[in-house]
Amino acid sequence: MRVLVVVPTYDEAESLPDVLARLLLAVPDADVLIVDDSSPDGTGDIAEQLASGEPRLHVLHRPGKEGLGAAYRAGFAWGLGRGYDVLVEMDADGSHQPEELPALLRALPGAEMVIGSRWVKGGSVVNWPWYRRLISRGGTWYARRLLALPVHDTTAGFRAVRGATLERIGYETMASQGYCFQIDMTRRVDAAGLTTLEVPIAFVEREHGRSKMSGAIVREALWRVTLWGLQRRLCRRRRVVRAA
Ligand code: GDD
Ligand code: MN
Repeated sequence: MRVLVVVPTYDEAESLPDVLARLLLAVPDADVLIVDDSSPDGTGDIAEQLASGEPRLHVLHRPGKEGLGAAYRAGFAWGLGRGYDVLVEMDADGSHQPEELPALLRALPGAEMVIGSRWVKGGSVVNWPWYRRLISRGGTWYARRLLALPVHDTTAGFRAVRGATLERIGYETMASQGYCFQIDMTRRVDAAGLTTLEVPIAFVEREHGRSKMSGAIVREALWRVTLWGLQRRLCRRRRVVRAA
């Protein structure tokens, strides 16, 4: 099983070196791709320097900040084009602990996707202010309810998915720019009748730099999830009418 960990970065110069060192140690058989959107703080150059001495580390430079969704689409295309069997999503700021990745990968034989989950038994969030907890729990609740998803952390950004699954769900047409990208993937895997497993993780708030979460990202998730929910109801009604 060839594994590629895709790590999107925007202004993560302070966090990246330590997280990468831990990651390379934690999963000795995996390769890593950093997808940097020309970070003004020089994260891309730091990534290049680290990659020059480490054959398992690769860097994809993009011309400007286009959001988490676009970075992952590009990273997935890169990995699938090179024959990786499993693609992993992971944040660069230390919130996802590399030492927990082996547990996600160990669960993969039993599923098409494994999510590192904050909101299942044994999962936790460390050092998050109340409003971030509220946004995350509220967002997850709304998506889970409207889309009837069997997942407790629908926006989770720490996950391992089979390459064949990404191709099957048409990952390149997942148009979300922000963290809603994660909900779209969760929903598509479920709609395709494929299995998602949740493994508890401890999400640790970053110590350096700042979150790229914004009002625009929350609004995008709200309108897209609402639209998907409406579509789902319409389709269900049509099926019922046809059956009658
Ligand atoms: N290339 C690129 N381009 N990377 C980006 C962009 C972008 O436009 N925006 C964010 N990132 C990178 C960050 O540098 C970081 O490595 C990762 O994506 C997560 O971004 P954060 O800004 O640290 O996210 P967060 O901590 O607020 O949000 C967490 O919770 C979300 C909601 O549950 C993350 O775990 C998200 O993945 C998750 O969806
Ligand atoms: Mn973060």
